[in-house]
Amino acid sequence: MNQDQLKQAVAKAAIDYIRPYLAKDTVLGIGTGSTANFFIDRLADLRGDFAGAVASSEATAERLKKHGIEVYDLNTVASLDYYIDGADEADANLALIKGGGAALTREKIVAAVAKTFICIADGSKKVEVLGNFPLPVEVIPMARSYVARQIVKLGGDPVYRQGVVTDNGNVILDVHNMQINHPVELEIALNNIVGVVTNGLFAARPADVLLLGTVNGVETLKP
Ligand code: A5P
Repeated sequence: MNQDQLKQAVAKAAIDYIRPYLAKDTVLGIGTGSTANFFIDRLADLRGDFAGAVASSEATAERLKKHGIEVYDLNTVASLDYYIDGADEADANLALIKGGGAALTREKIVAAVAKTFICIADGSKKVEVLGNFPLPVEVIPMARSYVARQIVKLGGDPVYRQGVVTDNGNVILDVHNMQINHPVELEIALNNIVGVVTNGLFAARPADVLLLGTVNGVETLKP
């Protein structure tokens, strides 16, 4: 199976996971990226079985709407039972690196609201220690150089993601060469730098379930 087939398999597994819990008033949180897109395409078949979704990016909102799925403003929704999204890396505690698609801030907000965060990923995303994938940090544009200098002091090697503006009008620094042995502490330290909007570590609020696509089938992992 190639990587796309593994992503499709976990998208289907996530549909199977949530389908029994869907009700007419259910609003789902939906992530961003190629794995989330496979999930959205399958979710379209269940359109009439739930109320709609909160999107973690403009791209996801567009895709949901194209499928005729109602998109809700998060501020109009009291709670979300499920958030379904991909990841760039996941460790055994289901701490994640996200933000390869630059949607990390809205993803983190929707994940914070959701009762259950179901992460869907192909097997290549599972790692012993986070940090091989460059850690995205969303930054207010005028603070870019200051934040980069502070990240160097923390031991990282920040690289400005040229030509990318987030849905929130900000820029991304990708932090290379960090072995992240203490993800919660690093997540807090990065968020404490003035000018950082948020960073792509999802460790303080990790996933609750990881559906991991492998050649032997989809594994269900919990911390
Ligand atoms: C988007 O900003 C990211 O957090 C994605 O969820 C992550 O990059 C995984 O993307 P793929 O599903 O495309 O691998």
